[in-house]
Amino acid sequence: MPACEVKSADTRGLAGQTVGDTSVCSVNQTQLIYRGYEIADLAANATFEEVAFLLLAGHKPSADELAEFDQALKDNRSVESSILDVIERIAVEPADVHPMSILRTGISMVSHLDPECEDNSADAEYRKSIRLMAKIPTLIGACQAPRDGRSRVEPDASLSHAANLLWMLTGKKPESIATKVMDVSLILYAEHDFNASTFTSRVIASTNSDMHSAVCGGIGALKGNLHGGANEAAMDMLADIMNDTSDSSMTVEEWMQNAFNEKRKLMGFGHRVYKNGDHRAGILREWGLKYCEEVEPDKKVWFDLGDEVQGIMHREKDIHPNVDFPCGMTYFTLGIPVPQYTPIFVASRITGWCAHIMEQHANNRIIRPLAQYAGPDLMSWCDS
Ligand code: CMC
Repeated sequence: MPACEVKSADTRGLAGQTVGDTSVCSVNQTQLIYRGYEIADLAANATFEEVAFLLLAGHKPSADELAEFDQALKDNRSVESSILDVIERIAVEPADVHPMSILRTGISMVSHLDPECEDNSADAEYRKSIRLMAKIPTLIGACQAPRDGRSRVEPDASLSHAANLLWMLTGKKPESIATKVMDVSLILYAEHDFNASTFTSRVIASTNSDMHSAVCGGIGALKGNLHGGANEAAMDMLADIMNDTSDSSMTVEEWMQNAFNEKRKLMGFGHRVYKNGDHRAGILREWGLKYCEEVEPDKKVWFDLGDEVQGIMHREKDIHPNVDFPCGMTYFTLGIPVPQYTPIFVASRITGWCAHIMEQHANNRIIRPLAQYAGPDLMSWCDS
């Protein structure tokens, strides 16, 4: 390369490209803002139901609006037993299917019975958003119950969205601190502008396809470990480190050095946008640690190990944890099976996806970018 030629920025993966407008959310180095409200403010002062209304309806709910929204969610929690029967069957046979795949299938089946599936009007999409949000915990529970050898439980209308999710997942009524920690995690995960899964949902919606199809696509994109699947991968990685260092034949420093030498990605670290840290990570760590100290003090070893890993990563690579890193430890401490961490992410991000799908349909033009051709020169089929 001539000395004067500057290597162009790496724009693979659309890095650094702004590809559209949104009024749902704004992300910058120092702030994450949902429709004008900063994430720390929401995590400290709002409930997940309030945040979901904010995202879907576009404004902070009045007391009456919130009551109506909350009732609509509770009224729509049940899922037809024909669908639950299928979920329960595919959850255990074959036994190793990932719950994200089962949830994707569940949403697909739910779409067949949604009376407004093909109606992309704003009113119908708002109603479908509520139905999707309400039913996802029931689908998650239907997958987990048979895996635990339990019978399915009915949704409980006396419980908040977060508490009902824990009830469906575990078959136990959660303590209030567990509900609070889950509620905060749902608020933190709800929305993040043009992340990979939301962008996927918008691309699907832009073809005039339906909301359920766009959500199935979002689930597929979220499943990968560079995106939502990182919360499971982060916990699996910590378990590997704990295991490999437990007999003192290797230190955490040595484990990390091996990972660096092998150029392995450390799960739950790094972010496409945040280069100085993800504001959500500190908030979730604080709540996870509070739950741990109050209810499960024996599990504090995971937070201590997490802090050590985080410190080495910062010192050696100047890379910060993202929200998925404390999420792994937090959900583990809450006793949630690791393969359900990313489905819980869906239970939250459904609100952001639906808000974006509605925004896309309200001012639609098909998303169809261009590609820079990098293949062979033109050839003749007969002469080559
Ligand atoms: N471990 C080791 N090295 C890393 C990591 C990591 N977690 N993240 C970034 N790097 C390195 C990367 O390899 C690159 O090095 P080099 O210049 O030598 O090739 C450098 O840091 C810059 O990477 P980047 O351009 O910031 O990365 P990106 O924007 O292409 O990818 C990412 C962002 C989140 C996919 C990536 O950081 C990653 O793979 N992290 C691990 C998976 C993860 O935690 N994903 C969750 C994302 S946030 C929440 C969510 O979506 O769920």
